[in-house]
Amino acid sequence: MEIRKIRLSNVGRFTDLEVAFAPTEKHPSKVTVFVGNNGAGKTTILKSIATSFSWLVARIRSERGSGSPIAQDDITNGTPSASVTIDISSINHPAVHLSTIYSWTLARTLRARKSKVESELTNVTLLADFFRFHLGLVDESSSLPLIVFYPVERSVKDVPLKVGKAEKEFDQFDGYENALNGGVDFGRFFQWFREREDSENERGISFEALKHWAAALPDSETKLIAELRDMHIASRDVQLTAVRLAIEVFMPGFNNLRVQRKPRLHMAIDKAGKTLIVSQLSQGEKSLLALVGDIARRLAIMNPSLDNPLHGKGIVLIDEVDLHLHPQWQRRLIRQLTQTFPHCQFILTTHSPLVISDTKDVLCYVLDDGELEEQNGLYGLDANQVLLSVMDTDVRNNEVQERLDRLLELLQDKKLKEAKELFNELSADLPPGHIELTKASLLIRKLELRIA
Ligand SMILES: Nc1ncnc2c1ncn2[C@@H]1O[C@H](COP(=O)(O)OP(=O)(O)OP(=O)(O)O)[C@@H](O)[C@H]1O
Ligand SMILES: [Mg+2]
Repeated sequence: MEIRKIRLSNVGRFTDLEVAFAPTEKHPSKVTVFVGNNGAGKTTILKSIATSFSWLVARIRSERGSGSPIAQDDITNGTPSASVTIDISSINHPAVHLSTIYSWTLARTLRARKSKVESELTNVTLLADFFRFHLGLVDESSSLPLIVFYPVERSVKDVPLKVGKAEKEFDQFDGYENALNGGVDFGRFFQWFREREDSENERGISFEALKHWAAALPDSETKLIAELRDMHIASRDVQLTAVRLAIEVFMPGFNNLRVQRKPRLHMAIDKAGKTLIVSQLSQGEKSLLALVGDIARRLAIMNPSLDNPLHGKGIVLIDEVDLHLHPQWQRRLIRQLTQTFPHCQFILTTHSPLVISDTKDVLCYVLDDGELEEQNGLYGLDANQVLLSVMDTDVRNNEVQERLDRLLELLQDKKLKEAKELFNELSADLPPGHIELTKASLLIRKLELRIA
């Protein structure tokens, strides 16, 4: 299932906006990224997609389910009603790859106002029926599509150390729990992890037990230790393995996420060989761990019959994907998302030039004053070029730039004395090794030689 198009009429700042999503003919990746100033409307677009999808999720979960309405505050000021129309393509027959477009419209009119726009939700019901039919009648372990929205408010404030026993067993529909309104919930992640790990350990040898025996047995027992290790590996839970793997790929140096029971119940992870409690990780580390762990967990729950649940299908919306992340992590982000979750379609927003210049075939839109402009050929550009040409932002302090420009002019006009004066002033103000000053000093030397 993929989202092809969305149309917003009188939603937030958009009077009438139509957006197509990757993959398109020109952009074969499954990633669409929105950039734009504060208030440009990026979140509005993601929120509208999430609201539309809430109806599909509700009707997959139960036949007559209702999703969320468009919020009153999201109806453009001065207009009586808003509507969101979404086009989804879904492969109905895997054997022949026959896909159908399902389109539905969600509308909202202000109280006591009259309007012609109305919701048209027949196709949501049809599409939801299709998924439920497959699940109930054709194949009980067939996959459900992941649909999830991570809003900006997703930061991880606390990692509950103690979580009561889960009230009920997790089922496949739990992959949709709080998927479109809650962001990441570490408590739930922890609970799920603990439950699966308990059953994993009941079936085989836990990591703790393996560590204990490997240390307790004499070195001469290499065969026995190897056998224990093999038994440990063979008994690993597929879903947990998927989550652990995703985290290892995204966060090099971090591995072996697990629940520890002593001295008290908590979640632990090894970072560069040292064991840490998850709540001891930095905000950036926790955010990425929670985000990746949450996508992987939901995919694992929804694709019980896949050998690698990370290959499940779905649509993932992430607002400000660079939130809390170091530039190095920002740069790798899209590549890692698409490699780790190859069958998910991603719709992202960002304020970071690094996010959008590191992957080929990404569809990037710049939002400016309610208008949408497609940007091509960003792959491989340096951050300064992206700042200048896409984000309309100077790469350097204005005053310094003006003085550097003046220095170049003086050199071009062969005014050596004035140029040297300005060069000395700038050298006093700027750090040693400043690239523009180094270039200027070469030009000064050249000019001196020429004059001599
Ligand atoms: N009901 C409304 N009527 C008219 N304009 C609105 C309405 N609601 C919101 N807006 C406009 O939409 C903007 C908010 O858009 P949105 O939150 O999508 O921006 P954004 O691109 O996500 O910005 P940021 O980068 O700061 O998160 C506001 O600045 C406001 O001008
Ligand atoms: Mg926003």
